[in-house]
Amino acid sequence: MNILFAASELSPYAKSGGLGDVIGALPSVLKARGHSVSAVIPLYRGLRERIPGIRATDLFLQIPMGKTVKEGRVWEAEAPGGVRLFLIEQEEYFNRANFYGENNADYEDNSARFFFFSKAVVEAARYLEPAPEILHVHDWQTGLVPAFVQARGLPFKTVFTIHNLAYQGSFWGLDFPLTNLPDDAFTAQGVEFYGYVNCMKAGIVMADQVTTVSPRYAQEIQTEIYGCWLDRVLQEQSHKLTGILNGVDYGQWDPKTDIHLPANYGPASLGGKAACRKAVLEAFRLRDDGAPIFGCVTRLAHQKGIHLIQEVIEGLLWQDIRFLLLGSGDPAAEHWFSSLALRHPGKVGVWIGFSEELSHRVTAGSDFFLMPSLYEPCGLTQMYSLRYGTLPIVHETGGLADSVRDYRPPAPKPEAKKGGKASKAKSKAKTKAEIAEAAQVAKGGPDGTGFRFMPCTGQPFWDACQRARSLYADKVELNRVRKLAMKEDFSWDESAKQYEVVYRRALAS
Ligand code: ADP
Ligand code: GLC
Repeated sequence: MNILFAASELSPYAKSGGLGDVIGALPSVLKARGHSVSAVIPLYRGLRERIPGIRATDLFLQIPMGKTVKEGRVWEAEAPGGVRLFLIEQEEYFNRANFYGENNADYEDNSARFFFFSKAVVEAARYLEPAPEILHVHDWQTGLVPAFVQARGLPFKTVFTIHNLAYQGSFWGLDFPLTNLPDDAFTAQGVEFYGYVNCMKAGIVMADQVTTVSPRYAQEIQTEIYGCWLDRVLQEQSHKLTGILNGVDYGQWDPKTDIHLPANYGPASLGGKAACRKAVLEAFRLRDDGAPIFGCVTRLAHQKGIHLIQEVIEGLLWQDIRFLLLGSGDPAAEHWFSSLALRHPGKVGVWIGFSEELSHRVTAGSDFFLMPSLYEPCGLTQMYSLRYGTLPIVHETGGLADSVRDYRPPAPKPEAKKGGKASKAKSKAKTKAEIAEAAQVAKGGPDGTGFRFMPCTGQPFWDACQRARSLYADKVELNRVRKLAMKEDFSWDESAKQYEVVYRRALAS
């Protein structure tokens, strides 16, 4: 099949979160499976200098934006795995400090910026050779692509992936003329939602197939609690909605080969993990007296349940743990965690900012990984930490529920008894214990790989952290569980197969 990916991020060139990781990995996996795959992103500031071998093409696009026309130039480079990468240059829209906004506020012209990008994707796709059959577009930034394809009667099939339903690209109706879509597109069947242009809703309604990034989240978003007002729309479109769990790029995220670590390790040789622990504590200038390290690498956003960490962390510190945080986002949270570090010298390490290298080091050096997200479409960091033997503590939701099994200690073995009657009693007791154990495994058990809790409130989260501390006290059992976690396999190949099924459905529609 011939597929063109379009998105606003692609790792390692443009990444603010998991979307970048996905677009940096999935295209190359599909390519390796024999498809012809290319990708297109905006040409952000600095990419001309950073992307090796990038070159301008002679393809200039004239894009109508309301009553004016803006020009875009197509650049070309190679994405990871030899995927052909196109970049749309538009100085006014994309030569900016960030992708989406500055000083904790979105750029005011984000509607124009990403309407332009989406139109440019469709226009560029017309000239590509071989011509794409499928445009696979991601999140609200490219949500209007299916509408543009339909309005122009172009022969592409469209697949729209929801990475995060909460960010919808909803702009006031007065922006509609900037789309240059016919008036009848501004209806409930099209891009309109309660008087606004809603790019997320447009993608859901108008794409041939819709996917989201875990099976559990595909169910959740059809409910009022998780639906972000779009639950009814998603219910109506459920016949074309599929949940496919993201994969992990083990070329980047495997402690056996990770270039960012001071020492490598794997399930057969855990020694390097101790070296990573030592190094990360040194980097944060923390004491090492053997206390468990709770780590966290995250956007500081409401979604991530930051307030729950704030609720339990002081108590945990009283119990003598170490806490490492790498994150950025909400200024109030940045401030709160920075002062936490000042209040607990030697015990808390906080690094406000974005650092790829440090994210690998914190993941490897910690014992447990905190992820109390209120909702989590998929989440990649819990899957990374599993591979690094850093057991995740997660709210039982979305992709967290689909990727982490709950650990419970093995049930104690019944005491052996001697004699005829007694041996009957023994076999009965054993059967009971087995039944109890089997029931535990369904809910949680010794084959667990992390700690799950629900509901998403302070007490259950605290309890899960306590269960983690208890496991930490038993080093033999801890290492057994670590090894189990490290052997979990979330490689992209399985997910890629499921995307192929969705592509075939789109082509057949
Ligand atoms: P989301 O996309 O919702 O932020 P994911 O778990 O899917 O959550 O992906 C987050 C990605 O961003 C991971 O690759 C994670 O390591 C990375 N990341 C998040 N915050 C930082 C940070 N401050 N520095 C470096 N990487 C970060
Ligand atoms: C979004 C979601 C995250 C997911 C990522 C990649 O950022 O918040 O859960 O892993 O997209 O799909």
